Amino acid sequence: MSNNLRPETMERIATPELAEKFIAEQIAAVRQQVGDKKVLLALSGGVDSSVVAALLIKAIGKQLVCVHVNHGLMRKGESEQVIEVFGKQLDANLIYVDATDRFLGLLEGVSEPEKKRKIIGNEFIRVFDEESAKLEGISFLAQGTIYPDILESDGVKAHHNVGGLPEDIDFQLVEPVRLLYKDEVRVVGEALGLPHGMVYRQPFPGPGLGVRCLGAITRDRLHALREADAILREEFDKSGLAEKVWQYFIAVPDMKSVGVKDGKRYEGWPAIIRAVNTKDAMTATIEEIPYPLLHHITDRITSEVPGINRVLLDLTPKPIGTIEWE
Ligand code: XMP
Repeated sequence: MSNNLRPETMERIATPELAEKFIAEQIAAVRQQVGDKKVLLALSGGVDSSVVAALLIKAIGKQLVCVHVNHGLMRKGESEQVIEVFGKQLDANLIYVDATDRFLGLLEGVSEPEKKRKIIGNEFIRVFDEESAKLEGISFLAQGTIYPDILESDGVKAHHNVGGLPEDIDFQLVEPVRLLYKDEVRVVGEALGLPHGMVYRQPFPGPGLGVRCLGAITRDRLHALREADAILREEFDKSGLAEKVWQYFIAVPDMKSVGVKDGKRYEGWPAIIRAVNTKDAMTATIEEIPYPLLHHITDRITSEVPGINRVLLDLTPKPIGTIEWE
């Protein structure tokens, strides 16, 4: 991590013009820093690493090697979007690792939240290490460090993001957005031509759906969670709520209740809707979702998602409830 502090004179990047200027400066700086050497980047699909990837592709093309590790806990379609945007559209040097079986195998039977997080974080580092060991001639490691990561000296990013990388790796760092705030990273991302949905992606915990599939993760319940979550996102997109609500998702607890379907007993899990607004995630309020939309979402989830027999709405602000249901 760089010790550089943001100069007081540095203008807030709020317009496409300022973004273009920043991009041009960073392209020159990165080229100067890395020369003809190769750079490795862990590409999670989150805003910061995606913007760094797009910037570096512009600066050094195939000298950048992106590794996307799918831990099997991504939201529906997210790994596919990484492959589509970076692998196909931007023609990046992209290594895609589907490590779903490894992660889910290790998580089997583990219900304690902190243990789950640790397993996911450690395994992520192991997979990334294995992939980087296969590559030759890498001299630099790129990271999507942003300014708040540097300011928060407790290393929030390190514990928050699964992408906390091995400390013993002997690479020099390339951190082109380290002086930017999140809103600036987004403006730069749009100027780089990344899809709007990627640039304005909701915050997503590094351990992904692992923190929303409560208790010990099973494949069938994880599948139900991912499908129900996809329906919620689709309906929020269609109704315009997606633009208004800061974060929304489904959590599925490890409990079943009895229901009835086609005249037969039907045991299933509840899908819990959480939709919150906040400025800084320290406190949060509840978004009011129109009842007709809630009925529609409930109908879709209960009829389309195997294993879900109830839909609940979480009305709890933060405090007292945290945003996640971990
Ligand atoms: P809580 O649940 O503590 O969450 O109210 C506050 C915000 O942090 C997000 N969150 C994470 N973000 N890596 C992240 O990048 C993580 O491991 C992580 N865990 C929670 C959460 O989604 C909410 O926006």
